[in-house]
Amino acid sequence: MRLSRFLMILKSKRRKCSVLRLRRAIKCVFPQDITRVLLNLISNGFYAATKRKAEAEGDGYEPTLVASTRSLGDRVEIRVRDNGRGIPPEVKEKMFNPFFTTKPAGEGTGLGLSICHDIIVKQHGGSIEVDTQPGKFTEIRVTLPRVTALIS
Ligand SMILES: Nc1ncnc2c1ncn2[C@@H]1O[C@H](COP(=O)(O)OP(=O)(O)OP(=O)(O)O)[C@@H](O)[C@H]1O
Ligand SMILES: [Mg+2]
Repeated sequence: MRLSRFLMILKSKRRKCSVLRLRRAIKCVFPQDITRVLLNLISNGFYAATKRKAEAEGDGYEPTLVASTRSLGDRVEIRVRDNGRGIPPEVKEKMFNPFFTTKPAGEGTGLGLSICHDIIVKQHGGSIEVDTQPGKFTEIRVTLPRVTALIS
């Protein structure tokens, strides 16, 4: 699914809010950073699900990516879940390191999650958690304070 279509669907779902509404919910210093985080997470999910599909060889596997948001009072939660290849423990340990990638040479920089970590944790005082089962799914859970003091 193309990203523009995906974001339109996100916008139309009840209890799931658009990137714009999300930006308003979080009084962040650099709103475009939140878009960048979402794009990185969604792109990883699409990649993992597409790879699993390619390996599935017509066994009825349907690549699925779900993004949702939820209010936690003074915090906002964003979840991005895919039913792709999942993440083995040895990759999970290193996946936030700059330049760490399992993609073939030339396909990925390995900077996507490192940038997400910098934006969410270092700049906005939020958190990122990973729940995954190899071969089944990955869910990235981001939480952000609604009002962020700039952390240098
Ligand atoms: N949703 C996911 N499912 C399975 N593996 C993932 C997922 N998200 C991240 N990973 C693993 O973490 C690694 C690092 O991710 P990161 O986004 O930092 O870099 P990348 O996706 O490899 O490269 P780039 O973001 O530049 O395209 C990936 O190579 C992959 O092994
Ligand atoms: Mg990536």
